[in-house]
Amino acid sequence: MTKLNIGIILGSTRQGRVSPQVGEWVKGIADKRGDAQYEIVDIADFKLPFLGEGTGQEQGIQAWNEKLASLDGFVFIVQEYNHSITGALKNALDSAREAWNNKAAGIVSYGSTGGARAAEHLRGILGELLVADVRVHPTLSLFTDFENGTVFKPAALHLNNVNAMLDQVIAWSGALKTLR
Ligand SMILES: Cc1cc2nc3c(=O)[nH]c(=O)nc-3n(C[C@H](O)[C@H](O)[C@H](O)COP(=O)(O)O)c2cc1C
Repeated sequence: MTKLNIGIILGSTRQGRVSPQVGEWVKGIADKRGDAQYEIVDIADFKLPFLGEGTGQEQGIQAWNEKLASLDGFVFIVQEYNHSITGALKNALDSAREAWNNKAAGIVSYGSTGGARAAEHLRGILGELLVADVRVHPTLSLFTDFENGTVFKPAALHLNNVNAMLDQVIAWSGALKTLR
């Protein structure tokens, strides 16, 4: 049986962002499982125009939709900006539709309160995109899982949570593949 393809989507694009550190940590844990093909998907690479400001035919939008279409499930690396998700992630979510549908997702978030408020906003959006978001949700603290808010040093307790989240993403991604 071919393995599921799971994209680990970096939700921030600003210079100096910490999301690549968090994404690589999740990928390191995920790769050890051997149960799927995991890849980092960096929104910044696609140079997505702001929705509605271009023709909609830009190469980045097509590449973004093709990348999403190749994936069976997602892990969103979510950071809290003004109690919600980043504008970059919202624009990336809005820049595709069918390519999201009937797939599963997990959320790993960070912020002063573990990014919980951003993650809850994301869950509402995912419902509209027919993405089934799983229950287990690792939350990382800017105060205790990062040094100076910049160097990622996750507490050991998060490891079990990441694996439990991935268990659910894999189960639901496999189930929803049969629906597509
Ligand atoms: C515009 C902006 C707004 C922010 N608002 C919040 C917030 O409401 N709550 C919070 O916990 N952290 C907030 N932060 C702190 C970010 O969560 C923190 O800087 C984090 O590292 C951002 O993720 P990134 O480094 O991947 O961009 C904010 C940061 C920025 C840049």
